[in-house]
Amino acid sequence: MTFKDQIDLSKLPEHIAVIMDGNGRWAKTHGKPRIFGHRNGVKAVREISEGAAEIGIKYLTLYAFSTENWNRPQLEVDALMTLLVSTVRNELKTLNKNSIRLNAIGDLSRLPPKTYKTLMEGIEDTRNNDRMTLTLALNYSARWELTEVVRNVAHDVKQGKLNIADINDSVIQAALTTHDMPDPELMIRTSGEQRISNYLLWQLAYAELYFTDTFWPDFNKEELYKALVDYQGRERRFGQISEQL
Ligand code: IPE
Ligand code: IPE
Ligand code: MG
Repeated sequence: MTFKDQIDLSKLPEHIAVIMDGNGRWAKTHGKPRIFGHRNGVKAVREISEGAAEIGIKYLTLYAFSTENWNRPQLEVDALMTLLVSTVRNELKTLNKNSIRLNAIGDLSRLPPKTYKTLMEGIEDTRNNDRMTLTLALNYSARWELTEVVRNVAHDVKQGKLNIADINDSVIQAALTTHDMPDPELMIRTSGEQRISNYLLWQLAYAELYFTDTFWPDFNKEELYKALVDYQGRERRFGQISEQL
């Protein structure tokens, strides 16, 4: 029996977040430069997006470039930014065919102009698709996001639009880059690393974490479905005890 057959479609998470990791090490095992790994990582992005949409996942959020990734060798950063342009252009057809809406979170204003422009075009061209929202976290970090939230909330207080006493969970939730989506119920990280790397710190507060040794370019639909089966076998207690659920 495949993992896909074992999934209970009535208990799917609405939102899956992914840290796509291991492109560089995957390339190394093939005796190739790191960028070869990133190029093959694009295939996994296509496969996982299709695989998620196919079973009815509503939101898929992929960590594609962190604010810390600017510290990589310039050649790799340039290659990643160029790869992003070609990927968005090449994948538009598939996104529209599958009715997937493209979205992006992060400090997008700092992306190279061409990358930014292509990204905005992709978002515009897919904005009426409603099967699944595919969000790319680009020049994203949770500390950047939460700092922006504090700045915006403080601004509203200063303008007299908000009382300090009224600042609560919902006010913060509404100021996040993900304000229009539910929090991810499942977070998957490939490549064997077991850390969050500055990803969605607020949103992942109660997410189930799933780690696999598979490098991102080798991550496929069945691996995604395996993660979902694992997720569905867990008991999510949210602070309560088993008997209360
Ligand atoms: C993930 O793969 C892709 C990005 C961070 C852009 P890595 O490039 O981090 O690959 P490893 O972790 O070095 O193998
Ligand atoms: C996290 O991967 C960021 C992305 C997947 C875009 P990294 O490979 O940059 O994370 P660290 O540095 O190993 O924690
Ligand atoms: Mg890495």
